[in-house]
Amino acid sequence: MPSTLTLSAGPLFLVLGLPERGMPEILAFGRGAAAPDFWPDVPRSSRINGMDVDVPSAVLSPVAGLGAFGWPAIAGHRDGRDFLLDFAGWTARRDGATTRLAASDAVAGLDIEIAITVSDAGVFGLSTRLTSVKDGVYTLDRCMAGSFLLPSGEAVATRFAGMWGREFQIRRHTLAPGLTLQESRRGRTSHDRQPYLGVSVGDVRFAFHLGWSGNHRIAVDTLDDGRRLVHLGALFEPGEIRLQKGDSYQSPVAYAAWDAAALHAFVRAEILSWPGGAMSPRPVMLNTWEGNYFDHKLEELKAQADAAAALGIERFVLDDGWFGRRDDDTSSLGDWTVDRRKYPDGLKPLVDHVTSLGMQFGLWFEPEMVNEDSDLYRAHPDWALKVEGRPFLRARHQQVLDLTRPEVADYLFDRLSAVLGSLAVSYVKWDMNRDITHAGGADGRAVTDAQTRAVHALMARVRAAFPHVEIESCASGGGRTDYGALANTQRVWTSDGTDALERLEIQRGASLFLPPEIMGAHVSANPNHQTGRTLSLTFRALVALAYHLGVELNPLDMTAAERTELAGFIALHKRLRPLLHAPGANFNLDPRDGRYVWGAATAEHAAVFVAQGPSMIAEQPEPLVVRLPGAPDRRWRIAAAHGDCPSGFFRMSDGQTRLLSGEMAFSAAALASAGLPLPMQRPETAILLELVPAG
Ligand code: GLA
Repeated sequence: MPSTLTLSAGPLFLVLGLPERGMPEILAFGRGAAAPDFWPDVPRSSRINGMDVDVPSAVLSPVAGLGAFGWPAIAGHRDGRDFLLDFAGWTARRDGATTRLAASDAVAGLDIEIAITVSDAGVFGLSTRLTSVKDGVYTLDRCMAGSFLLPSGEAVATRFAGMWGREFQIRRHTLAPGLTLQESRRGRTSHDRQPYLGVSVGDVRFAFHLGWSGNHRIAVDTLDDGRRLVHLGALFEPGEIRLQKGDSYQSPVAYAAWDAAALHAFVRAEILSWPGGAMSPRPVMLNTWEGNYFDHKLEELKAQADAAAALGIERFVLDDGWFGRRDDDTSSLGDWTVDRRKYPDGLKPLVDHVTSLGMQFGLWFEPEMVNEDSDLYRAHPDWALKVEGRPFLRARHQQVLDLTRPEVADYLFDRLSAVLGSLAVSYVKWDMNRDITHAGGADGRAVTDAQTRAVHALMARVRAAFPHVEIESCASGGGRTDYGALANTQRVWTSDGTDALERLEIQRGASLFLPPEIMGAHVSANPNHQTGRTLSLTFRALVALAYHLGVELNPLDMTAAERTELAGFIALHKRLRPLLHAPGANFNLDPRDGRYVWGAATAEHAAVFVAQGPSMIAEQPEPLVVRLPGAPDRRWRIAAAHGDCPSGFFRMSDGQTRLLSGEMAFSAAALASAGLPLPMQRPETAILLELVPAG
């Protein structure tokens, strides 16, 4: 008789039946208390015109050959043979928060281990390892990390669309019956197909994510009984994963949570690793890219640093342009030595200047890349990924280095170490500015998967050697944003799109799986460099203020009045930072009629951002409903209204004036039901309301 296994992750439960052979059956997956007993010995198979054997279809990692006909999560062969799989002898072993299910297929010569990790944050993590135990080569075509079960019924999917500068655009659609597939083949997490999927079916909702920075696949397959399996895993090129006897393939981890709040708690508790063991208050940054591009002038940069320090900035990040002979994006990637034309005495004078002002110093690298116009490429043209006989496809004039070759990884580690070991650099912006098209290794075989692992390994090596250094994950903005990358990084550059109006959507989207304190959000110049749009400083600052705040402009180009205003917002951010970045405090509401609402709330203090993007269509705005923690009858008042208040309102009644000036108190229950009757805001205006308990 099969045995039953019940696992809990915070409020979520997963109940599995371990069969004698076949794959573990998912008996139940959901939220609440798991029923204490199940009916593992009653077959859940009564197909008309079906097989003469009992075939459960809701299983972990379905495979071909068992009599169920769904999408196989694991597939491979030995030169065309052993294409069917049938694992037997399942055992379960608990190992801390991880339960390992293991079995073997003696015919195909494969061992399998499915690891299920539970987190109190309310997240299940599934990963799968296959080991070949037979002579010859087992070619693995597919091995999904894990499978999750959803109920039947109309299912609405939430996915991301996007492109460079406009990542994390939320798209919702009803799932069709049959198979829905998302595949990403860009060799990085991508701007257009993030490894994220939200699904709601009635009152059941789940968010899924794959912690993987390479090619991926997410499949949703309808089962014979109408329920659905969601599979997440890496996507291999043909013939990419070949297992010799004794070799294993270890998948990345697929995560499932109820909602964004659980994912945020999980990232904070279990993914991020901070220098010193705990997150320090997120330093306000100045990033030099949009203020200087490749035009580095030492004295001018020092003056910018002076101005930055006066603004209250705490970290100065020198972006692209400091190395090789990098005057534009056509050369020097790979030559990680200081450009002595721009910095005759090296970077030390600038680093010393910045640190003497009390700021941290950060530096940009793009380790995986090489320009053909570089000393590195001239010395080692064979170090770039390529497929013999195929032309290079350049992107931003650059090629991708083959990090699977130890000498390449060692070279990069040495170059990074030389800089990090000799200068007071406490922050690295690790960029990756092209998709990978020809991921061929030295023997002509595809290495996309191995390259992804090699990048993670290099990041881990740098982290281990320089544990005080924080790393930002950037790939032309948010192109490498996933929990695999975040295991070794502490911030993402959310998007190269710095237009605050565009950022409303981008940041709301990224907030579905990232907590605010690791999302880079910068105040940029007017007009915006990507869109040409002009927005008030208030709008630009308030849209960035709740996240990891930065400035992406040349402060010397600002008027004295603008500098004073920006310094005020930076001071406001610093005062509110403990609240905005407090675990469990942040919230993000679905926008209505162009009005975006987000912020953070504890039982003692709330910060509510309200930004109106495009003009409202409604005659008057919907009351603003916000749920505050603490007792429902606790009375609150508006202690301060920052930003475009009252200037951004079309018209204010006397009552609204009294409400916004804090004269009127209201209960948390009233705020959560009736809502705040705010005036209508003009387009492209933003306010920040601070709420405190009244009296
Ligand atoms: C990418 C990054 C930018 C900047 C440039 C430098 O586009 O996303 O922030 O660092 O590279 O070339």
